[in-house]
Amino acid sequence: MSMANSTALPCLLLLTIVSLAAANGGGSNSTHSRQVRLACGASASATDSDGRAWDGDSASKFLTSTKSGVAARATYHDPSLPSSVPYMMARVFASSHTYTFLVRPGRVFLRLFFYPSDYGNRNASSALFGVTAGGVTLLRDFNASQSALAVDAAYLVREFSVNVNSSGRLDVTFAPSTGASSHYAFVNGIEVVPTPDVFTVPVPTFANGGRPDPMPIRADTAFQTMYRLNVGGTAVSPADDSGSFYRTWDTDFPYIFGTAVGVSSKKDSDVTIRYPPSVPPHIAPEGVYASARSMGPDPQINLNYNLTWILTVDAGFYYLLRFHFCEIQNPITRVNQRSFYIYINNQTAQEQMDVITRSGGIGVPVYTNYLVVTTGSGQTDMWVALHPDPGSRPQYYDAILNGLEVFKLQTYGSNNLAAANQPIPQKQLYQKEFKRDSAVAAVVGRVAAGALLAALIGCACACAICRRRRKYASVAVCETDCVPEQPAHGLRSPKKRGKVW
Ligand SMILES: *[C@@H]1O[C@H](CO)[C@@H](O)[C@H](O)[C@H]1NC(C)=O
Ligand SMILES: *[C@@H]1O[C@H](CO)[C@@H](O)[C@H](O)[C@H]1NC(C)=O
Ligand SMILES: *[C@@H]1O[C@H](CO)[C@@H](O)[C@H](O)[C@H]1NC(C)=O
Ligand SMILES: *[C@@H]1O[C@H](CO)[C@@H](O)[C@H](O)[C@H]1NC(C)=O
Ligand SMILES: *[C@@H]1O[C@H](CO)[C@@H](O)[C@H](O)[C@H]1NC(C)=O
Ligand SMILES: *[C@@H]1O[C@H](CO)[C@@H](O)[C@H](O)[C@H]1NC(C)=O
Repeated sequence: MSMANSTALPCLLLLTIVSLAAANGGGSNSTHSRQVRLACGASASATDSDGRAWDGDSASKFLTSTKSGVAARATYHDPSLPSSVPYMMARVFASSHTYTFLVRPGRVFLRLFFYPSDYGNRNASSALFGVTAGGVTLLRDFNASQSALAVDAAYLVREFSVNVNSSGRLDVTFAPSTGASSHYAFVNGIEVVPTPDVFTVPVPTFANGGRPDPMPIRADTAFQTMYRLNVGGTAVSPADDSGSFYRTWDTDFPYIFGTAVGVSSKKDSDVTIRYPPSVPPHIAPEGVYASARSMGPDPQINLNYNLTWILTVDAGFYYLLRFHFCEIQNPITRVNQRSFYIYINNQTAQEQMDVITRSGGIGVPVYTNYLVVTTGSGQTDMWVALHPDPGSRPQYYDAILNGLEVFKLQTYGSNNLAAANQPIPQKQLYQKEFKRDSAVAAVVGRVAAGALLAALIGCACACAICRRRRKYASVAVCETDCVPEQPAHGLRSPKKRGKVW
């Protein structure tokens, strides 16, 4: 496992083969291929807190070589880990390693689980590596410690959707970055979930600068999930996702700009969510369509503000934005009762958006897609805003949104999805030092877990708000003097958790 070995054998590729053959008799039933969950570094199967069963990758059927990295246990169990499986064990690589999954051709969600921690004699801060899958670079010079700190989370889940070609084989390669012999790669869990193609069917209809659809989305495009929000609702855990896709849907509240947060609502009890053939239930679970955020009851107030979300993304990529809609409350059952604009990055993506017109009725889900171009490098803020459209004289001057997904598209020239590691906001740095410096902090944290969590949430919200303001105010406001804003409308604060990012 020394670097001397790896430089002496530069072409050494260690293979781990995992079979995804159909569970039901070996047929090639495209929608029922088996899901794979590998708890990397684990020697036995185990179940996580969501009820997902994970296979240890040390079991002999998965390893073709004894030189496939080393299994290591995390030295510290962060209380915010949802489950010790798969996070407390890792496989650590000093040289390039490839896991090979045999899977029916088509799309899969590929999720990579990372818990940055010291592993054996390896420091968390020395991990620096790249990941490729199916010929696409997913991560480059990935610093898991920094990325986790940047979003104030103990662990990270990176979700990609990649296309498995007719070879029926998906190679996922972890390679330590060059530059220092201490650099290593690690992974705690790998999840492969075959899905239908939920991306390329609907044609996106908007691009920045008013150019219509400048680039059709290729069927083999790889995507990274940047945001998946249950707008106006509570988080949906992987176990509660539809289609057994094990997606996580987060609350949208932390991303709302300013204090005008609108009103969140649940479906009326006599409204049933009815999925039409054009929106199969696997598109989004009922929990997403059964809750929504709207602007509020006062038309004058609504005409005077935009209900706005700010979503930080990597600049220099195309993004697919998917808006999920469903009218769920009884006053609104007919066409032209509610009509609104969708703005993306201050440009009109959609006018006269009327959910009933598109869906056909109350309780019927519908979604729309927009393609957005970002330029430059580093990170940039994507603005998504809703505003009443009085053009058709609707009955209510209001807008509604039930869910929002943001996917980054691979670049076609360089087959790349990777971007620079996110910078760490100052507040998180301070918290990290605080945790390090005081051995008592962990104990206090456990005793006063509620208070600490509340404080962390407050800080996280404040930071998010500060970050937004900092970027768009002409003077640098509040790294230190910003007061956390209170959630309005009795919404629950988001739980501190890992980020799909
Ligand atoms: C796959 O299996 C399901 C249920 O087992 C069945 O309904 C469906 O028709 C099959 N699809 C194909 C393409 O064979
Ligand atoms: C790990 O970190 C500790 C303290 O930060 C340092 O003393 C040690 O040299 C580091 N070890 C390696 C292998 O980088
Ligand atoms: C990873 O990021 C942390 C925090 O920014 C930094 O201290 C560390 O040196 C980085 N590790 C490497 C290998 O670059
Ligand atoms: C499938 O993809 C792999 C990895 O990108 C590539 O090496 C291989 O040639 C492809 N096979 C086919 C049949 O397209
Ligand atoms: C959108 O407009 C706001 C307000 O004028 C501005 O601060 C912001 O930078 C704009 N956002 C984008 C992405 O252009
Ligand atoms: C809402 O956003 C659009 C697009 O950025 C902008 O033209 C409009 O002035 C905004 N309206 C209000 C009330 O802020």
